[in-house]
Amino acid sequence: MTGTEKSDHGQWSSRFAFILAATGSAVGLGNIWKFPYITGENGGGAFVIVYLLCVLLIGIPIMMAETMLGRRTRQNPIDTMITLSDEAGADKNWHYLGWMGVIAGFLILSYYSVIAGWASAYVLKAFTGSFFAADASEIKGLFDGLIASPIQLIFWHSLFMLATMSVVARGVKTGIEKAVRFLMPSLFVMLILLVAYAMTTGSYDQGLKFLFTPDFSKLTGDSVLTAMGHAFFTLSIGMGAIMVYGSYLPKDVSISKTVFLIAGTDTVVALLAGMAIFPIVFASGLEPAAGPGLIFQTLPIAFGNMTGGWLFGILFFVMLVFAALSSSISLIEPAVAWLVENKGMNRKQACIWSGSITWLLGFGTIFSFNIWSGFKIFDRTIFQLLDYLTANLLLPIGGFCIAVFAGWIMKRQHSEHELGMPNTLSYQVWKVLICYVAPAAVFLVFLHVVGVL
Ligand code: TRP
Repeated sequence: MTGTEKSDHGQWSSRFAFILAATGSAVGLGNIWKFPYITGENGGGAFVIVYLLCVLLIGIPIMMAETMLGRRTRQNPIDTMITLSDEAGADKNWHYLGWMGVIAGFLILSYYSVIAGWASAYVLKAFTGSFFAADASEIKGLFDGLIASPIQLIFWHSLFMLATMSVVARGVKTGIEKAVRFLMPSLFVMLILLVAYAMTTGSYDQGLKFLFTPDFSKLTGDSVLTAMGHAFFTLSIGMGAIMVYGSYLPKDVSISKTVFLIAGTDTVVALLAGMAIFPIVFASGLEPAAGPGLIFQTLPIAFGNMTGGWLFGILFFVMLVFAALSSSISLIEPAVAWLVENKGMNRKQACIWSGSITWLLGFGTIFSFNIWSGFKIFDRTIFQLLDYLTANLLLPIGGFCIAVFAGWIMKRQHSEHELGMPNTLSYQVWKVLICYVAPAAVFLVFLHVVGVL
């Protein structure tokens, strides 16, 4: 991932390289696929406000903390926690935080890859002209047909996992850095064009109103948890991905500025996706709460109707697959870095191991959309369970521990030094957020969900 492809821990070529990689990790299916559908399921505006508050007050401070922990030791997340707890004279058990991250990464990637597979399948659908002259119900039929077919899903999931593994095996810097440099700005421009298309649907106002007018009566305890969990998911924090990227970050780079830039870009992309999708939802008489298929049931309608929609549709889904790829690689990088640095494997072997485990796990998600759709635990399918367990539980718990470690365990002079802002106002603000606000917020949301509060 460092471009050196050796077992020794390398370094990004520049601050810009880190920004690209971390933004590539943050911007992905979470922004374009997940944010719109969970916003739709949770009633719109009020949910969006809670999500934005969580990004600002919990996500950004924790993202700074996670980057800082990784950069201080320049090791994989598990060894980072061992080294740092030693340094602070704290309990060794902190290294379980690294382990939890590795497991969370496998679990997330197992379903992330299946959804990225849907996006890949849509590149082909766009190419063969399936979106033309199709009405909303035909478009829905296309999607339903895809997820009903285990064979097709296995094919696309396998393809996407192979792509992820081959990029990670080669090291992120060589392959993906170049691709991301060009593809991310393109995705951005395409989203803006889609928003422009949404303005012509006649339901633009209704879409924006849904997204930005809060109705707090629609907010349940679980939606608050989902909004908070999504703040972690979309920023890629709470499981060591940003920690491992931070570990490749040169020492002289300002963590705070960099993190603000990444989190800001990530948020803008999510909001643009929402602004593009909801007007189409309302104009086509669809349900905002349609679930994980939302973008696959709405965007093709836009592509089928707009001039140049054929090419646009293909390019859009290609971009989406690349956005997913630049995220998926960060989900197995902690495991790969650990295997390389501790088990004497080379990157290729480490990728084959971790990729195969994830690939197998992915079958659970695939079947939860068809042959096992009736199989539910706690009223959730395997996919829903994995999503809930990781985004709503493991990431916030991981983030909570990172906050406690960075705020309470690590010595003040060390965090001041790493963040490069000794005793400034910004440091004080960060310190208050990381010691009190972020951990308390996570804790209170959990209490609220279990009904204590
Ligand atoms: N942030 C990515 C997205 O929004 C997903 C992702 C990549 C992720 N790496 C992560 C989520 C690490 C949690 C933890 O699509």
